[in-house]
Amino acid sequence: MLRNRVLAFLVLTAQLLVMIPETGAKVPALIVFGDSTVDSGNNNQISTVLKSNFQPYGRDYLDGKATGRFSNGRIAPDFISEGLGLKNAVPAYLDPEYNIVDFATGVCFASAGTGLDNATSAVLSVMPLWKEVEYYKEYQTRLRSYLGEEKANEIIKESLYLISIGTNDFLENYYLLPRKLRKYSVSEYQNFLIGIAGDFVKDIYRLGARKMSLSGLSPFGCLPLERTTQIFYGSKCIQEYNNVARDFNTKMNEKVSKLNRELDGLQLVFSNPYDLVSEILNHPEAFGFQNVRSACCGTGYYEMSYLCDKMNPFTCSDASKYVFWDSFHPTEKTNAIVASHILKYDLSRFQ
Ligand SMILES: *[C@@H]1O[C@H](CO)[C@@H](O)[C@H](O)[C@H]1NC(C)=O
Repeated sequence: MLRNRVLAFLVLTAQLLVMIPETGAKVPALIVFGDSTVDSGNNNQISTVLKSNFQPYGRDYLDGKATGRFSNGRIAPDFISEGLGLKNAVPAYLDPEYNIVDFATGVCFASAGTGLDNATSAVLSVMPLWKEVEYYKEYQTRLRSYLGEEKANEIIKESLYLISIGTNDFLENYYLLPRKLRKYSVSEYQNFLIGIAGDFVKDIYRLGARKMSLSGLSPFGCLPLERTTQIFYGSKCIQEYNNVARDFNTKMNEKVSKLNRELDGLQLVFSNPYDLVSEILNHPEAFGFQNVRSACCGTGYYEMSYLCDKMNPFTCSDASKYVFWDSFHPTEKTNAIVASHILKYDLSRFQ
């Protein structure tokens, strides 16, 4: 059933160029929280090794600039912003080239490498989620002094808040710890993370946010970096990781329903890319992809961030044939397909 829906959808979009419908903007701004799936360049301003503001990152971006997005071009929030009738790229809050005039119609507080768990952000010294909220509070103050109390409050209330986070908690934190040092079982850890996600939603709700989209996790056992660890077993996906992502999504979906019942006036949607991404991974050719196991950048098996640089002679010439740009992140084309699907099936009520 879902598979049919997804297949019908791909026939409509992927065969042609991916087209995002232009709508009259019903939300005044897109406000983004999370990790590298949605970071448009905040890590450039932070002292961490997890950066991507150098070529070949960004080589297919609007002006070919490496902005700090972990892709060859735009990322999902950029396409979602455009699809909502807003601007075609969401600026990073810490980027000194932008100011409150720009941020009034869209802003990104995300930080690549972060997680729901504070300990995850500590691994690569990136912004913890609570810090993203601190910057959001500062943004509110700046917005109020720029537009006045009333107009600013309206933007805060009517904007769409996009939250995409959680993969790093498992891949950069939980599964890197030796089994003996893990405080929690996987299931307990999932519950711990979901509790934090719920608290985060409550925090920004108290600050005035009402329209929100919380993203589910993709089958992260199929990321090229994870497959590479199975290289002597046919580079298969790590099924255990995919199961963890799927179970996490089920629990998150329940949490989302609960929050909607609890918080008056909240419009929280759970947008879950898991099935669509599985479909892409299982039938890449149907979406116009030729390569799904390895990434475009470098050898495609392990490179990301500083290892994916322009001196690497193996980088592919046409990223649109690849599902993944580096060993951990999708290409612009994959981002566009996922964003288009989310807009159509999860965010329609905000358009
Ligand atoms: C994460 O750290 C912040 C700041 O120290 C703290 O307020 C918050 O309670 C911590 N979150 C968890 C889940 O421990």
